[in-house]
Amino acid sequence: MAGLMMAPRMTLAKQAEAKDRIDALMARMTIEEKAGQLNLMNDPFRWRPEGVNPGDRLDSDQAQTAADIKAGRIGALFNGVGAATTRLVQDMAVRESRLGIPLLFAADIVHGLRTTFPVPLGESASWDLELAERTARAAAVEGGASGVHQTYAPMVDVARDQRWGRVVEGAGEDVLLNNLFAAARTKGFQGDDLTHWSSLLACPKHFAAYGAAESGMDYNSTDMSEVMLRSVYLPPFKAALDAGALSVMSAFNDLNGVPTSGNKWLLTDILHGEWGFAGFVVSDYTSEAELVAHGFAADGRDAARIALMAGVDMSMKSGLYLRHIPDLVASGEVPMARVDQAVRRVLMTKAALGLFDDPYRGSDVAVERRVVGSRDHLDLAREAGRKSIVMLKNEGGLLPLPKSGQRIALIGPFGADAADVFGPWSIFKDTDLAVSLEQGLRQALRDPNALTVVKGSDVEAPLPGGIEAAVAAANEADVVLLAIGESSVMSAESKSRVSIDIPAPQLALAEAVAATGKPVVVLLRNGRGMELSGAVAGADSILVTWFLGSETGHAIADVLFGDHEPTGRLPVSFPFRSGQSPFYYAHKATGRPSQPTDQEFTSKFREVPHAALYPFGHGLTYAPIDWSETRLSSQTMAWNGQIEASVTLTNGGDRDVTEVVQLYIRDRVASLTQPVRLLKAFRRVTVPAGKSVEVTMPLTFADVQFMGPDHTMIAEPGLFDVWLSASAQTGQAAQFTLLR
Ligand code: BGC
Repeated sequence: MAGLMMAPRMTLAKQAEAKDRIDALMARMTIEEKAGQLNLMNDPFRWRPEGVNPGDRLDSDQAQTAADIKAGRIGALFNGVGAATTRLVQDMAVRESRLGIPLLFAADIVHGLRTTFPVPLGESASWDLELAERTARAAAVEGGASGVHQTYAPMVDVARDQRWGRVVEGAGEDVLLNNLFAAARTKGFQGDDLTHWSSLLACPKHFAAYGAAESGMDYNSTDMSEVMLRSVYLPPFKAALDAGALSVMSAFNDLNGVPTSGNKWLLTDILHGEWGFAGFVVSDYTSEAELVAHGFAADGRDAARIALMAGVDMSMKSGLYLRHIPDLVASGEVPMARVDQAVRRVLMTKAALGLFDDPYRGSDVAVERRVVGSRDHLDLAREAGRKSIVMLKNEGGLLPLPKSGQRIALIGPFGADAADVFGPWSIFKDTDLAVSLEQGLRQALRDPNALTVVKGSDVEAPLPGGIEAAVAAANEADVVLLAIGESSVMSAESKSRVSIDIPAPQLALAEAVAATGKPVVVLLRNGRGMELSGAVAGADSILVTWFLGSETGHAIADVLFGDHEPTGRLPVSFPFRSGQSPFYYAHKATGRPSQPTDQEFTSKFREVPHAALYPFGHGLTYAPIDWSETRLSSQTMAWNGQIEASVTLTNGGDRDVTEVVQLYIRDRVASLTQPVRLLKAFRRVTVPAGKSVEVTMPLTFADVQFMGPDHTMIAEPGLFDVWLSASAQTGQAAQFTLLR
């Protein structure tokens, strides 16, 4: 039974016990009860995280759901949290349904539950995998204590087009970074023992190539070569599965003409056949029903049949499986064996979570009270927040600012705001835990009254008198902090943008403030790589602050006033202009590569270089760091061999700083053209004040392989470039030849 493979942390005895239990259960299940196990509905108790009492009157939705649970028509619920609620609802399944099969509670716990950590893109700017594992662990502790068993995370869609609203949910544009964060987050969510109340089943999403939506418009179609799919979009899923993930979410998009939620090649042949995945696949919100709108299924019944036969085991929200499976089996259109396979996968996962032994695992009000929003978690949110900040520029060493002796004007729609610090997918946040920028700065300043706060503009509309008030405040100040950018509703699911710029009213505000001649620090709030122009690009200093979550104000103050260094590096490119989208560093050379001096008849736009204003990997520290050129241990690499690359970093400042040494390669000649640079490894290193540090990193035979035309990894002898550099656009390459 494939299901037996699926719980690597279960002992063999436990697996055998689970199998016997599930066999016995399945022998007693009616086809309606089987369909019920594959039916996932949203939890109408979701807005009662404080709990429901058995005596409470249920509204009509709740009453219907309760009746369905008791009749065995629902196997899982999503986005209801709270120990008291989940315990009560679980009771309905365990005590009042015929077979007493426990429910699976799932939720979108993407970057925290009540304590909110930085959005995943922001946290990925830390290039700190251990940090990502720790925040995922803390999120799982809060989620588990609130009765949740599965999280719809991590999102591992590689996102190369910054117009796409969901860039914010993942690790950005690079494959390696996505692979590593996918694994780290999966490990963090699932912990060491899946049966423990604090372990959440991870669900990497959205399988697959959802991030490649044409023109960055959400839900749009994707069409790409299999080589592209296998070299860029599939690897992060494989990485999450290798880290132990036991569920996967299918996607909304069409891939090469076959919608992913009806794509047997993806969901069965690759996932189970090639990769040996033995968990279950859940559709995305009604994505199986959407096969009809795609023009791939005639009606709901047809859609249910196609999705189930393709490999979607559990249907989210549409109710189509419940409605149609009994009849599809009766008519012979769907073999019972396929239904049984899906049910086994779901039940084995419930067993792997320990739900048959303790259906109430985690639903404990006392534990919930102790761990949710705990001091430890808030401290971690602050640490993660400051490590996510990226300093793009710092002219004249304006930052860090002194904590006294200066009057500061905090201007912009995000200065006093406490609602927009969380970012998208923070549906369970505790709004009382928000530390606004204003609060964080005032607490850090010796004299809190040295700070004046003026909004100046709304996010997308001008504010009457706003600019005048902002200019007056700037004139009174020694330095201006400009808190501008995107709100959380501009950067999320379905929030694709035609232009990735800062809204015009805020740009007008920035111009007016810059005209005062005061030094300006931009504190950018954003969920994607953005176009920075005019006075924003021209500011003295720019900090990318994403959506940092509960501890936003403290985290920014930590870096702004120099208690901590900025250590983040961009996980996405900031192109010069929106119209370059999709711009990503690992592009191909083309037959007419653009040169800085070339103007015409090369591959570039008229107005801007074919480059980023701030490239992938970029991020400054509070000390000037000199990078030597890259040195190699040998000019040749033997087949199956390895060489070493080294670089010397010299800190010309008076502070110890952390650098991120990035190892890129380029395969100069290959039978399939290769990117102009590709990240292969990175290392965070401390460079003490006034000292030099030599960093040596191995370059292995695995690093020079690429996805060949027959869809296996191959290597070809020939010339390679290697950089150990501070970003995808800096450094001088060294060369070596791979010998056969
Ligand atoms: C999103 C998923 C999410 C699901 C459940 C969908 O709209 O695409 O990422 O997990 O809703 O909330």
